[in-house]
Amino acid sequence: MASDADKIKVWDGFVRLFHWSLVICVVANWLNEAGDPPHRYLGYTAAALVACRIAWGFIGSAHARFSDWVPTPDVLWRYQQDLRQGLHWSKPGHNPAAAVMMLALMLVVAGLGISGWLTTTDRFFGEEWLEELHATLALALQVMVGLHVVAAIVESWKQRQNLVLSMITGYKRQTGKQQDADTTG
Ligand code: HEM
Ligand code: HEM
Repeated sequence: MASDADKIKVWDGFVRLFHWSLVICVVANWLNEAGDPPHRYLGYTAAALVACRIAWGFIGSAHARFSDWVPTPDVLWRYQQDLRQGLHWSKPGHNPAAAVMMLALMLVVAGLGISGWLTTTDRFFGEEWLEELHATLALALQVMVGLHVVAAIVESWKQRQNLVLSMITGYKRQTGKQQDADTTG
């Protein structure tokens, strides 16, 4: 039975608000695919959330900071080598593999905001390649989110703790084998 002493605060309020607001904006824009004003405003909100999250990556709480979780190529290499040998790094924030997905998700949402905006400018209005790029990014995001959700469920099972709930409450349970892996390279 986990006691309060086993709990550690991992995700601050901003990260949690960012995550679930982003989910709402992205899902709403998948459901409403026309480039009408609601779609545009939700898309700009999603892109603005990512911009704020990037700033928060420099000034936010410990595990929100990029310095806590963005891996160097060397760290990624060591991580996958350890995984192959059955050694699982357990750290409070994002693990190196998750980190790559987090960055990719943020990048694609930013790309959707920029490509969507460009379709509304005089210079690029009606350009088919741009509309196709926007649609392709939206599809790529769907596939990535599918993987992201499956990974969150599988990782929760492996760690014997509900990571989705952690993204709501901000707390994770510190397991016996949990240790801070050196991700700074
Ligand atoms: C999270 C951000 C966004 C997502 C997930 C998203 C998703 C989509 C999707 C799925 C479509 C339909 C593509 C197709 O099959 O033709 C679409 C179309 C469109 N989006 Fe977005 N979008 C986002 C942001 C934006 C933004 C910020 C703008 C502009 C300000 C925008 C403008 C448009 C326009 C004009 C279309 C219609 C393009 C066409 O006629 O092919 N979108 N979007
Ligand atoms: C449109 C859909 C989604 C997008 C764009 C998205 C994006 C993201 C991003 C960018 C992060 C990093 C958060 C940060 O560091 O600020 C994240 C983390 C996370 N997301 Fe999502 N997410 C989506 C849907 C979901 C859903 C539906 C779930 C739950 C089933 C989920 C569960 C999680 C969890 C558990 C984490 C933290 C992972 C960890 O502990 O390392 N996400 N997500």
